[in-house]
Amino acid sequence: MNVLVIGSGGREHALCWAVAASPLLTKLWCAPGNPGIAQVATCVPIGALELPQLVTWAQENDIDLVIPGPEAPLVEGITDAMEAAGITCFGPSKAAAQLEGSKSFTKDIADAAGIPTALWERFDTSAEACNFIQRRGAPIVVKADGLAAGKGVVVCGTEDEAIAAVTAMMDEDVFGEAGRSVVIEECLTGPEVSLFALCDGEQALLLGSAQDHKRVGDGDTGPNTGGMGAYSPVPVFPPALEHACLEQIVKPALKQMAHRGTPFRGILFAGLMLTEHGPKLIEFNVRFGDPECQVLLLRLKSDLLAAIQAACDSELKNFDLRWHDHAALAVVMAARGYPEAPERGSVIRGLDKAAGPGVEIFHAGTATGPDGELLAAGGRVLTICGTGATLQDAHNAAYGAVGKLIWPEGFCRRDIGKRAL
Ligand code: AMP
Ligand code: GLY
Repeated sequence: MNVLVIGSGGREHALCWAVAASPLLTKLWCAPGNPGIAQVATCVPIGALELPQLVTWAQENDIDLVIPGPEAPLVEGITDAMEAAGITCFGPSKAAAQLEGSKSFTKDIADAAGIPTALWERFDTSAEACNFIQRRGAPIVVKADGLAAGKGVVVCGTEDEAIAAVTAMMDEDVFGEAGRSVVIEECLTGPEVSLFALCDGEQALLLGSAQDHKRVGDGDTGPNTGGMGAYSPVPVFPPALEHACLEQIVKPALKQMAHRGTPFRGILFAGLMLTEHGPKLIEFNVRFGDPECQVLLLRLKSDLLAAIQAACDSELKNFDLRWHDHAALAVVMAARGYPEAPERGSVIRGLDKAAGPGVEIFHAGTATGPDGELLAAGGRVLTICGTGATLQDAHNAAYGAVGKLIWPEGFCRRDIGKRAL
């Protein structure tokens, strides 16, 4: 099978790494890829959002299967565009990707399917939104309805904060179109976990769960990021609870999507909060998380490509996923200044020394310099992953490798997995 992965982050490096190991693979490409991905795939210099160019390239190169990593091309309709050209694409249609593209769409699905989630309302004018905030009081959560690069959610401790968030989104247009309408929600509390399911439109197979670390600083301080680290398994989310969430949250959503004529095929990522009243849905994403993908794929024993093929053929019913017994933990190394203004161009050394048994290093924002040196070229730059019999062993492997990197302009959180250890 000729496969094209779309994207250039640590998640896509992990996807390429897993697909490259498949006996079903003939040749692997990645657009646009990065220097780490170039070690396992041939990189194609086309951006993840250049849909017509990607389709033409895939046709000319006899691609059998496209695997998009990030949400943006899915929300833009890459699956519809590829399938219109006769190329199988493992991901939701543009219509089904609304599960990530619109918060109110997801809340409607949750209500229609009886999925436990925070009480909510949608507003199209700031006057009505502010009125509601004054009636409900704080704490309260304000969300831009559309995609806002992970920054569209404000958890507000006071009414003033909530009103300021509404004003910024609806009157000052800080998120443009994405903030034209807002969702206002009841504030939930409890540990957050991410659950992943492989879906074929009807069936869903559990791919496991992970815990992310969204804030940039130790102890969950500082601004939100794409994710600074993850680990799996998650002790507060044992297998029985994972399965209950698959049955009560993921499967009802799939059924509702199919019922509406927009079946969901791809990776469904449920962001959950384990409240004292049970698990509740915070959001759906329509793709793997980054860096959650890295830890999940390090634990997956089955052939990822065979599993994806089964999902594309609507054959998940007869597919059985297998796992390694070991735990995995990922530490994201970011460039100084991330997330506001990451410094670019510093040299990273010591990758060969950091690599070793129980260690896997995935590239994200890296580039190759004129003399072949490895340079930082983005915010999140590397995901350093450790595996081991226990989470503590995985932690030791990952941080041991971090200690061998020579990159003074890089940083990481020192407390990934601390809650579980
Ligand atoms: P989202 O972009 O939907 O993932 O939201 C970002 C973060 O906001 C989540 O990871 C939660 O920590 C927080 N959040 C979202 N919705 C709620 C809620 N209803 N109650 C409390 N925290 C929330
Ligand atoms: N790490 C969270 C995400 O990928 O959305």
